[in-house]
Amino acid sequence: MVEKIKIEVRELSKSFSNNKVLSSLNLKIPEGKITAIIGRSGEGKSVLFKHIIGLMSPDSGDVYIDGLKMSGMNGKELNKVRAKFGVLFQGAALFDSMTVRENIAFPLVEHSEMSSSEIDLKVKNSLKLVELEGIEDRMPSQLSGGMKKRVGLARAIIREPEVILYDEPTTGLDPILADSIHKLIVSLQEKLNITSLVITHDVVNTLEFAHSIAMLHGGKILTHCTPNEIKLVEDPLVQQFLKGSSTGPLKVV
Ligand SMILES: Nc1ncnc2c1ncn2[C@@H]1O[C@H](COP(=O)(O)OP(=O)(O)O)[C@@H](O)[C@H]1O
Ligand SMILES: [Mg+2]
Repeated sequence: MVEKIKIEVRELSKSFSNNKVLSSLNLKIPEGKITAIIGRSGEGKSVLFKHIIGLMSPDSGDVYIDGLKMSGMNGKELNKVRAKFGVLFQGAALFDSMTVRENIAFPLVEHSEMSSSEIDLKVKNSLKLVELEGIEDRMPSQLSGGMKKRVGLARAIIREPEVILYDEPTTGLDPILADSIHKLIVSLQEKLNITSLVITHDVVNTLEFAHSIAMLHGGKILTHCTPNEIKLVEDPLVQQFLKGSSTGPLKVV
């Protein structure tokens, strides 16, 4: 079966003054699958992510969503593309002064004319999908780290996106909570048949749940293949990263 490509990054380059972060990077993200992007801190994973959702524009190269080139789109077209995405930013990024309900409803209040009872129902359903119920009136300060991530995720899916982007969804969580978030990523992908893009350096878990893994290094995708295949990739950079070893070509700085 030929996979449909949901997102394609072509020859993308991006520098910040003399810091060349992405260098003619190519990546194809298939529809309805979980693609993980791994790589060391500071390699440019979040920068890549921001180009995909149109928050940063490339120095050269392009991002295509459903075959449509993002550069050159006007504001209206870009908003239409952005509506396809749900984003879980690093650290969940909840508004501290808003209740859980207000946080989750925020994208709806911003973008639609729904009644408050319709919004309440959507919030409830969204919470149910992240396996939390009855916490609509709590404030973010009353939530654990894992619950905050889930609420952030409930907000990311409230507009029924076609793609969810997770930027380090398990960083800062203990291994048990991290495992529960990975299970949630899989269950959402299965239930909603959604295209999922997960940025992570949690290699061990990624090998278990991702359909494919792309490793970012030196501004390029070094390898992009299935978890079983990546274990066999001979490149010592890849093997060192998979093992999480401090000895090898990847330097400790
Ligand atoms: N807005 C920005 N302005 C200048 N430099 C940036 C900006 N965003 C990211 N960078 C730089 O780009 C590099 C990659 O950052 P980032 O994508 O956040 O890495 P990570 O792979 O850890 O997510 C870093 O050197 C960072 O300092
Ligand atoms: Mg990052």
